[in-house]
Amino acid sequence: MTQAPKKLFIKTYGCQMNVYDSERMAEALGASGYVTTEVQDEADMVLLNTCHIREKAAEKVYSDLGRLRPLKEAKPDLKIGVAGCVAQAEGEEILNRMPLVDLVVGPQSYHRLPEMEARVGQGGRAVDTEFPEDDKFAALKSRPKAKRGPTAFLTVQEGCDKFCAFCVVPYTRGAEVSRPAERIVAEARGLVEAGVREVTLLGQNVNAWHGAEGGLAALVGQLAQIDGLERIRYTTSHPNDMDEALIAAHGHEAKLMPYLHLPVQSGSDRILKAMNRKHTAEEYIRLIERIRAARPDILMTSDFIVGFPGETDADFEATMDLVREVRYGSAFSFKYSPRPGTPAAERKVQVAPEVMDDRLQRLQGLLTQQQRAAQDAMVGRETTVLLEKPGRLPGQMVGKSEHLFAVHVDAPEALRGEIVKVRITEAGPNSLGGTLLA
Ligand code: SAH
Ligand code: SF4
Ligand code: F3S
Repeated sequence: MTQAPKKLFIKTYGCQMNVYDSERMAEALGASGYVTTEVQDEADMVLLNTCHIREKAAEKVYSDLGRLRPLKEAKPDLKIGVAGCVAQAEGEEILNRMPLVDLVVGPQSYHRLPEMEARVGQGGRAVDTEFPEDDKFAALKSRPKAKRGPTAFLTVQEGCDKFCAFCVVPYTRGAEVSRPAERIVAEARGLVEAGVREVTLLGQNVNAWHGAEGGLAALVGQLAQIDGLERIRYTTSHPNDMDEALIAAHGHEAKLMPYLHLPVQSGSDRILKAMNRKHTAEEYIRLIERIRAARPDILMTSDFIVGFPGETDADFEATMDLVREVRYGSAFSFKYSPRPGTPAAERKVQVAPEVMDDRLQRLQGLLTQQQRAAQDAMVGRETTVLLEKPGRLPGQMVGKSEHLFAVHVDAPEALRGEIVKVRITEAGPNSLGGTLLA
């Protein structure tokens, strides 16, 4: 007798590393007879892959769990799991606070999900938030060969040793670990065979990758030799790990896309020091000059925190000055959120909420202006676009340009997954428009 497949619904919060992990968890549970569904109500198992970076993100998990109550009452056999960084940070506490949760699994232990799921099937509850000695990627089966879309994430490095004073990641993801180059190359080849044309290498500190001599630049070089892999990106980088070889690669490695997310957080040396970022604003600006010397049209993006404890008006103005000097293609900015267990949360000089609101608004205003300018500057230029899916209008496809702008193009659906030459003809608020070139 063959059993009907069980259905798995995964909701992913937080960063791209969670997106990758969600795929791998779905694959791991595939061995236990699960197929994924987009419809939560028809699920036999609901897995929330969570983020702990700011208070709002973590609290959202609890309100989403609360909303699962009626479904669990209607389907008592429904299994509910919490994975990711909230699972790592709060562990067993989640089971106490939320009796409907059956299992809690941290980001380093999810290769054990099938066993945990089986235990829950026998009526138990399961928690695993260890940082095991064994490499979870080695323990996971190789990835299925099913056809995939043209872009994929590939985690090459995990964890962080930087301990920025505001950040939970070193606690939720553990110490820096690099996957070996051969495994990454093998996984990339598999992805290309499944239809992938562009990979984004992921790590909490991806440019600290040291799985082989030569660092990330050497890995990019090896991946660039894979036929059929046309585009390579990587994220997120730390300014202090941008070595000469990686900067140079932006100049000579044609497959490396001209886009770099290089978070700076603040433009004030005093605040950078209090954040434990270990570089000055000037050093960051000089670094970007060197990167732009290697690849003049590179698009820079960043993350900012406003209202870090002790941030004065003058500190904030220094951030605004840095943004004006660098000219970003886009950037994320956040209000500082005190996180349990981090040194910054202990500081007595917290910034008032209305001051934070005001600073955030001003910073976002400036960043939006810069984003519009970067989009407008693309009009008239030729670029390549990797067509990913149909656009909103009939006969239209949408994909990403080299600089990671969404571009709408009049093109037949048969071109899905192809890299086409496009001239950019217009810039809208959220995407560009272009026409196919022969
Ligand atoms: N590893 C990356 C990003 C980590 S988290 C890096 O080093 O840049 C993504 C972003 O969330 C950070 O860049 C930071 O801007 C923001 N962030 C992290 N902790 C935060 C906190 N406690 N409050 C507000 N924003 C935070
Ligand atoms: Fe967090 Fe800093 Fe590590 Fe980035 S570098 S993950 S902000 S501790
Ligand atoms: Fe969030 Fe964890 Fe990523 S805290 S940002 S999901 S590493």
